[in-house]
Amino acid sequence: MKDAVPQPIHLVDYRPPSHLVEDVHLTFRLSPKGTRVIAKIRFRANPEGLDEGNLRLDGENLRLISLSLNGHPLTALDYLLTPQGLTIPAERLPGPAFTLCSEVEIDPEANTALEGLYTSNGMFCTQCEAEGFRKITFYPDRPDVMAPFTVRIESDLPVLLSNGNPLASGEGWAEWHDPWPKPAYLFALVAGDLVAQSDRFTTASGRDVALNIWVRPGDEDRCDYAMDALKRSMAWDEQVYGREYDLDIFNIVAVDDFNMGAMENKGLNIFNSKYVLASPETATDRDYDWIEGIVAHEYFHNWTGNRITCRDWFQLCLKEGLTVFRDQQFSADMRSAPVKRIEDVLQLRARQFREDGGPLAHPVRPESYVEINNFYTATVYEKGAELIRMLRELVGPDAYAAALDEYFARHDGQACTIEDWLQVFEDVTQRDLSQFKRWYTQAGTPRVSAEWHIADGTLSLTLRQEVPATPGQPLKEPALIPVRLGMLTPEGAEILPDMVIELDSPEVSRSWDLADLAQAAGVSVPQRVIPSLLRGFSAPVVLDAALTPEDRAVLLAHDGDPFNRWEAGRRLLREALVADLAQTRFDTAGVIEALGHAAGDTHLDPAFRALVLSLPSEDDIAQAICDIGLVPDPVAIADAHRALSARMGAALGPLLQRLYAENDPGPAYSPAAEDAGKRALRNTALRLLSLTGDLTLARAQFENARNMTDQVAALSCLIAGGETEAAARFEAQWQGDRLVMDKWFMLQIAQAPRDMALDRAKALTEHPLFDWKNPNRFRSVIGALGQTPAAFHDPSGAGYRFVADWLIRLDGLNPQTAARMSTLFETWRRYDADRQELIRAELERIAATEGLSRDMSEMVARISG
Ligand code: PHE
Ligand code: ZN
Repeated sequence: MKDAVPQPIHLVDYRPPSHLVEDVHLTFRLSPKGTRVIAKIRFRANPEGLDEGNLRLDGENLRLISLSLNGHPLTALDYLLTPQGLTIPAERLPGPAFTLCSEVEIDPEANTALEGLYTSNGMFCTQCEAEGFRKITFYPDRPDVMAPFTVRIESDLPVLLSNGNPLASGEGWAEWHDPWPKPAYLFALVAGDLVAQSDRFTTASGRDVALNIWVRPGDEDRCDYAMDALKRSMAWDEQVYGREYDLDIFNIVAVDDFNMGAMENKGLNIFNSKYVLASPETATDRDYDWIEGIVAHEYFHNWTGNRITCRDWFQLCLKEGLTVFRDQQFSADMRSAPVKRIEDVLQLRARQFREDGGPLAHPVRPESYVEINNFYTATVYEKGAELIRMLRELVGPDAYAAALDEYFARHDGQACTIEDWLQVFEDVTQRDLSQFKRWYTQAGTPRVSAEWHIADGTLSLTLRQEVPATPGQPLKEPALIPVRLGMLTPEGAEILPDMVIELDSPEVSRSWDLADLAQAAGVSVPQRVIPSLLRGFSAPVVLDAALTPEDRAVLLAHDGDPFNRWEAGRRLLREALVADLAQTRFDTAGVIEALGHAAGDTHLDPAFRALVLSLPSEDDIAQAICDIGLVPDPVAIADAHRALSARMGAALGPLLQRLYAENDPGPAYSPAAEDAGKRALRNTALRLLSLTGDLTLARAQFENARNMTDQVAALSCLIAGGETEAAARFEAQWQGDRLVMDKWFMLQIAQAPRDMALDRAKALTEHPLFDWKNPNRFRSVIGALGQTPAAFHDPSGAGYRFVADWLIRLDGLNPQTAARMSTLFETWRRYDADRQELIRAELERIAATEGLSRDMSEMVARISG
């Protein structure tokens, strides 16, 4: 049977549910191939329901065994069953309140999509967000139906977990009760042969909470850091947001097969094992960072997502934007705030700006979707977090705190909208936020340009904005853009107190008496000034300001805002690369010298100095080339990138040698920011030195590395230098470790000399450990190739074909992960006609595949445009 063409769902079509759920009792008789799920659900008519009152339940891939209403068995004449669910017409319902019992059978082992109940290495686990619960039992699988759940699990496996608090257990069974009403997407169940690393936390009001991290036997010594991050998250949310945990137990489970990073199921978070397990020998500093941030993120969802959830999936940013912002604040407090901000902006530009500038651009709150899984995007998450950050900037931290208190008080236990969220801020601050709301409804990255001049002793500044057209949104209204700024004299003195200008119309101007400014700052009246704009990256926009390289060098050396200090250096590197590729004149030697000064400044945080020395990515350069109206050549970009690194390595040789020697944190490994920063600086120096062709230091580091950060850094240099022996030794050492082997697969492609990457990737798909059904492993090979531009964009089209072949193959088993990776093609219109033609052919081939998933069809159609 051929599925009907999937129709888009629209925000404007939202209707409240016809029935609400009083409570749910679930019994699971677990068996890998035939699990029975018995559901007893008490319904009552929703007084706010608008339709005729039929009971509509979602259900997919369920084998219906039996159904009864108030104890009376139903026959096939009493309901309508389709591949999407079950409807009982209003006239068959006994009244406004009734109990429905159902028994279904499901096949967890055959569930390769990893949505619903599935098995992973002999363990049972669930993933229900967004619409996985309908693959477990018949239910109104929508977030505005919230209910308390009681769950009984029957299985011989030793550990049986579900949401909430444990009720009772015995030989082969366990019961759990979650008193907090929740939508079905927060349901979770885990059963397996697991061991826990356990701890306790006492909340501010004295509740004693048992904490467990459940892993496979043998991994229990790799949970310390996740546990530590969890306890710090719990304390931080009490101190900063006044939010306490609300159950007696908090469980985290690590799973090897998982589509995403982690999931915030109430009281039972389920994690991709990559974001839980860490030891100094097996995890890099970057892994530790991620673990800290993701443990915090999932924990923070307990209030922003679970206690207050989303009315419908269009409101996804309500929980995700806010929770990402909260985890960013947390990490900034735990580590260096400026370094964290730079890293977040790097991510935002690499993923969200790329999305916003292409065929997949969509508003932070989309208006329609075909498959909601396709909207767990950088725009919803990362740009969503930027909106919260701007809101806080606009109303100030005290009003922000007051608004959050009000939000929790007013909406606890509810399923809310962006309108509810903004209303709270309007009520608390008495400010009209209708213009700010455009950030939620308009796609596209605004472009802000700045002009300034001095005349007759007056300094004037004009800011202009333009929001580019995006698919389906040709015309845009001006956004409300907070521009934080300062001004420097050519000597580097701050002459204007740091301030925020609200750019709320196409153009805003300000002027100042220069003599007054100079007097207040205690400097002589300057001939010219250098604006430091968008400090701290105060808005997610692209800034065009006609700063000369000399101006930028002043900012790099003196800007009081660390973000803009870094940004000035980054812009210089970008201009140097673009000039090289466009064959225009540029003082690259001067740039390298200026960067060397900042990198050698021991007053600055080593982590910051490492960022100063790091080059923009090849993808950034491709975008920068487009921005000046040229067509990027990924092969030329890769060569220019490498050449500039080598040139920096040569020109800064003695400095880099010194940084390498001076920043050794010593033999004991600590993942904390201070030591991690030293390793980052040291390994950045190693990288630049190695790219000059001298691998002596990298070889020595590879021999002596005592932690994965240093081992991976050295291995990367050796692979980039064309040495293959190190990779073979690494494989021999780590072949028994899944997570480390993911790195091995990935590095051999991403770090390979450009003309070798594609053959490597192909060869690696033949490796006995290439388990392509595991999402992490798939990403570490196919994703790695797609993110290695010179190989992916090989002029022959072989890179495109390789990725398309694998996407088609994975789509048959796991549409969510396959569709997500199709975004590798989203920038195709940037490239030359030959490449566009080759990509178009691959997109067409994917689209024409028999039985293509709804996820992939939607993505390919949108990308093709
Ligand atoms: N809600 C999860 C998070 O943000 C992400 C997720 C979405 C996980 C869908 C699985 C499936 O933390
Ligand atoms: Zn989240």
